[in-house]
Amino acid sequence: MFWQLLLIVFLSVLSLRVVSGAESRPNLIFVLADDYGYYDIGYHGDQIKTPHLDKLCSSGVRLENYYVQPICVPTRSQLMSGMYQIHTGMQHSNQALLPLNIPTVADKIKEAGYSTHMVGKWHLGFRRKEHMPCYRGFDTMFCFLDGHENYDSHMRAWHGKGPYLDLRTEKGPAFNYSGVYSANMYTERAINVLKEHAAAKKDTPLFLYLAYQSVHTPLQVPKKYERPYRHIKDKRRRSYAGMVNALDEGVGNLTKALKDLNMWDNTVFIFSTDNGGNNHGGGASNWPLRGKKGTLWEGGMRANGFVAGGRVERSGVISKELMHVSDWFPTLVGLAKGNLNGTKLDGHDQWSTINKGTSSPRNVILHNIDILRPRLGKPAVNGTFDTSVRAAIRIGDYKLITGDCGDDQWIPPPGVPIESLNGENQHRFSQSHFGTSSSDAPGARGLREEKNVWLFNIRKDPNERHDLSAKEPARVRAMLDQLVAFNNTAVPPFVVKSDPRSNPALHGNVWGPWLD
Ligand SMILES: *[C@@H]1O[C@H](CO)[C@@H](O)[C@H](O)[C@H]1NC(C)=O
Ligand SMILES: *[C@@H]1O[C@H](CO)[C@@H](O)[C@H](O)[C@H]1NC(C)=O
Ligand SMILES: *[C@@H]1O[C@H](CO)[C@@H](O)[C@H](O)[C@H]1NC(C)=O
Ligand SMILES: *[C@@H]1O[C@H](CO)[C@@H](O)[C@H](O)[C@H]1NC(C)=O
Ligand SMILES: *[C@@H]1O[C@H](CO)[C@@H](O)[C@H](O)[C@H]1NC(C)=O
Repeated sequence: MFWQLLLIVFLSVLSLRVVSGAESRPNLIFVLADDYGYYDIGYHGDQIKTPHLDKLCSSGVRLENYYVQPICVPTRSQLMSGMYQIHTGMQHSNQALLPLNIPTVADKIKEAGYSTHMVGKWHLGFRRKEHMPCYRGFDTMFCFLDGHENYDSHMRAWHGKGPYLDLRTEKGPAFNYSGVYSANMYTERAINVLKEHAAAKKDTPLFLYLAYQSVHTPLQVPKKYERPYRHIKDKRRRSYAGMVNALDEGVGNLTKALKDLNMWDNTVFIFSTDNGGNNHGGGASNWPLRGKKGTLWEGGMRANGFVAGGRVERSGVISKELMHVSDWFPTLVGLAKGNLNGTKLDGHDQWSTINKGTSSPRNVILHNIDILRPRLGKPAVNGTFDTSVRAAIRIGDYKLITGDCGDDQWIPPPGVPIESLNGENQHRFSQSHFGTSSSDAPGARGLREEKNVWLFNIRKDPNERHDLSAKEPARVRAMLDQLVAFNNTAVPPFVVKSDPRSNPALHGNVWGPWLD
């Protein structure tokens, strides 16, 4: 009897210890914005006000040498897999199908004992139900599955037919949200996740991935959010500014809820964009960076991002250490005290870089190699990587771009007086206007077709104004050799084709899995 009692006491002490160990792990909140331009956050440009994001950022660590991928799916795939696209087969464009044999960061965090929730845009495949977030490590989901849709009806057309609803939970389609604006809807859902978690008084910490639809096209926003920007004449810029306003308010609401629920002190809160802004019709601005969403210029990939929350020890600091979206996987799983078994990561654990200010474990980023992209020009150097192929790599301060580099303009934010903008060679853009590119000028195209390699010192020249490729042939060759080495580790890229069976009209007029 005595020994039995002692055993019970011993076991309960043991289980208490396990519980308190679990409690010491932080809640992980990851907020991803969509197509959010570099210039369009308050601390980079003052045309659009983002008081909540600014305040949050200044309470934590601002990441100012932080990279994502140039478009939606690639960034999301790297966030979820911790792997470069050349290692998942997703290196060509927007192939929304994260292979099922690759564990997601949510799988690993869940395996470590967290409750895990996904809210917002998925865009990593849904042909079979197993591709949806609730089968990829998330206990619950409230999401749309594809890349864009109407902000109020939550519908999207299929090859000109429809539109059809794309919004669901783990239980099935969510029909009753028509007329609720996306930014408010996802924020409210995220706050409900927090409330339910707090009310359940579970021992487990929480992982919430909130991937806002905002501020991707279509440019739709309730009037009240646009009103502060009446003075902006460009209609697209004005709507976009309103959309950013709603996003900022949503993040403010979410933060307030975390504080009200006493969760903030035990939270690591990450904010990031998925890629650069769409400054050709999307209303965004990446000023003073070069290029746009979809390109390998800095404007496509250099990201707004920061880390806040009560579990971050440093505050009010700017980190200039090199960081990449693939780094979140090991960083988050490390914070969750999870296990990286079964993973083949390209990311590095950056927690001590962020939290303690140690130097980054990363010196290289393979931005991408896309061998399926139509080639441009002839190989510029023999016996190494073929520069007609679209690729980019960063090594230390240097970045090399090859192939069809995409739109390469510096486009100022519409409605901001040019004299007030910082940036070199202002005359270069004073002729261009919003929505067009001076590369369309006669002659410019021909010149561009010849050229397919660029080298920049990004630390000294973040806006990519001074191409060093002719001056530094040895460095160009060394970096091309690195691309060959990376290319040798690549798996073949796959291409996702449109499937007639995916027609939502065949599935109750809702978007969803079609191969079950
Ligand atoms: C939609 O329905 C669900 C239950 O089916 C409910 O929880 C939710 O509040 C409803 N949403 C709206 C906007 O009415
Ligand atoms: C933020 O909270 C306020 C007050 O509850 C609400 O009116 C507003 O719609 C919320 N905004 C978003 C984007 O969720
Ligand atoms: C990894 O280890 C965990 C135990 O920590 C185990 O539950 C899981 O099955 C393992 N996963 C793989 C892919 O080996
Ligand atoms: C590469 O080699 C080919 C064939 O020998 C030659 O014609 C071409 O000029 C060389 N290109 C460069 C950039 O050296
Ligand atoms: C990259 O590797 C593939 C084989 O995986 C090869 O076909 C291709 O030529 C290589 N590309 C370059 C630019 O080296």
